[in-house]
Order: sequence, then structure tokens, then C-alpha cells
Amino acid sequence: MMQKTFLMVKPDGVQRQLIGEIVSRFERKGLHLAGAKLMTISPELAQQHYGEHKGKPFFEGLVEFITSGPVFAMVWQGENVIEISRQMMGKTNPKDALPGTIRGDYGVIVGKNIIHGSDSPESAEREINLFFNQEELVEYNKSM
Ligand code: CMP
Repeated sequence: MMQKTFLMVKPDGVQRQLIGEIVSRFERKGLHLAGAKLMTISPELAQQHYGEHKGKPFFEGLVEFITSGPVFAMVWQGENVIEISRQMMGKTNPKDALPGTIRGDYGVIVGKNIIHGSDSPESAEREINLFFNQEELVEYNKSM
């Protein structure tokens, strides 16, 4: 199934200069970059993006962290891209993420886990619309 997903290199990944490495992994997998921007997330956008975690003990820290420096927001397109990109990112907690995955190869602690990715078609649509206007996304021809 052709899908789009929202992926984001978090402030720790940007600071550690992993943008190119991460983009490269998804490109080599055969996925297509449909939109991208380097930006700093406002507290308001952070609260919206992480709305489902409101009330959790780590929520304040999460908002503080995600607004602490530039992020690299992306939309990727491909067959089953939501599930495939989640496999490539690895488990949320880097201690459970297998070597060979992004979090398994580069992360150590759960709060600083390098990358975010949508976990379902519903959250992909919500997050893409939260971060991008339609004019900021490109369309690839159907044969790709
Ligand atoms: P992400 O996929 O961006 O979605 C929610 C984020 O909350 C998650 O990645 C983690 O970075 C963060 N998170 C989840 N559990 C914890 C935790 N116990 N402590 C701190 N941060 C957490």
C-alpha cells in the first residue's frame, strides 16, 4: 500500500550531525523524500504534536527537549512506509532497539532517541498536516 509518513530528526540527532546519515538510510532503502525542512519547533507546536502524551510524567521534559534546538522534519513516501520506517528506527527505547536500526546504532537513552516517526496512518496524516502545507510536498509519478 502506497503511504506517506512523517519522520523527524530530533534536536540530538541534528546536533550530532546525523541528518545526512539518516536521510541516506531511507533513500537507500528505496523510499522517496516528499518534503523536508530544518526548523525550530515552538512550544505550541510541540504541545500539539505530543498531545497524546499530555499528563505523562515525561511530558514537560519531552516538550522542553523537542524545542531545545533545530529539528529536521520530513515526509517520506513509499510502499508500507509507516511500518518499514518504524522497523528502520528501532524500538522507542534505544536499550531495546536492535543494532542495525537508527536508535540501536546511535542512541542510548529514551529521552534522546534521535528520530521520531508516525506510528499509524492516522497519526501520519495528523503529523504531516501539522508540520507541512500541501505546497511544500512534491508528488512522484506512480511508477516509482
Ligand atoms: P517519540 O517517538 O518521539 O514519541 C514520544 C516520545 O516520548 C518518544 O519518542 C520518547 O522520546 C519519549 N519518551 C517515551 N517514554 C519516555 C520516558 N519514559 N522518558 C522520557 N521520554 C520518553
